[in-house]
Amino acid sequence: MADDSIGLLLTAEQIGARVKELGAKISHDYEGRTPFLIGVLKGSLVFLADLARAITIPVNVDFMSISSYGDGTNSGVVRILKDLDESITGHDVILVEDIIDTGLTLTYLLATLTARRPASLEVCGLLDKSARRIVEVPIRYKGFDIPDEFVIGYGLDHEGRYRNLRSIFSVKDMAVLRDPDEVAAVLDASEA
Ligand code: IMP
Ligand code: MG
Repeated sequence: MADDSIGLLLTAEQIGARVKELGAKISHDYEGRTPFLIGVLKGSLVFLADLARAITIPVNVDFMSISSYGDGTNSGVVRILKDLDESITGHDVILVEDIIDTGLTLTYLLATLTARRPASLEVCGLLDKSARRIVEVPIRYKGFDIPDEFVIGYGLDHEGRYRNLRSIFSVKDMAVLRDPDEVAAVLDASEA
């Protein structure tokens, strides 16, 4: 399949190895404590599931679901669609994100969570697209730096699709995403 509209960026094996390292680091840093892993739905779903199992100390898991206000205007102001089930006050919190792009979403979330007075608050982000950063954000645990390309797979979607791909693919030509059959053909070839 000679199609360079979509390219394999990170294999499932590369991701798995890195997630294991992040899990080991977190297990070491939080030894004797029980951190709260907070996943930002829906993109962090797959990453959080793997990360939690790579951590060897006890953890709590909770989720938030958010949506950006409006389209296009990236103000970073988000609406909380589903808030945490539990209080994080006095707990060690690790916010788990799929990708940090402009940093606006994360900045908003950190402010929101900080106001709840956790004992500590750190960020674990799988992908860092730093070329697009508007606001600097502290990423304590980072998976990979990636170029300024749109990526899908391993939780990351385009209009709700492709979250279930085991690897991460970068889309060079966004037009290809208009034809799911063509995408499927390219992916079949590389995920086989
Ligand atoms: P930002 O850092 O506020 O710009 O927002 C980051 C959010 O935008 C992520 O949590 C993703 O949901 C989404 N996003 C950014 N870049 C990509 C991408 O390349 N593929 C899929 N979703 C993305
Ligand atoms: Mg997200």
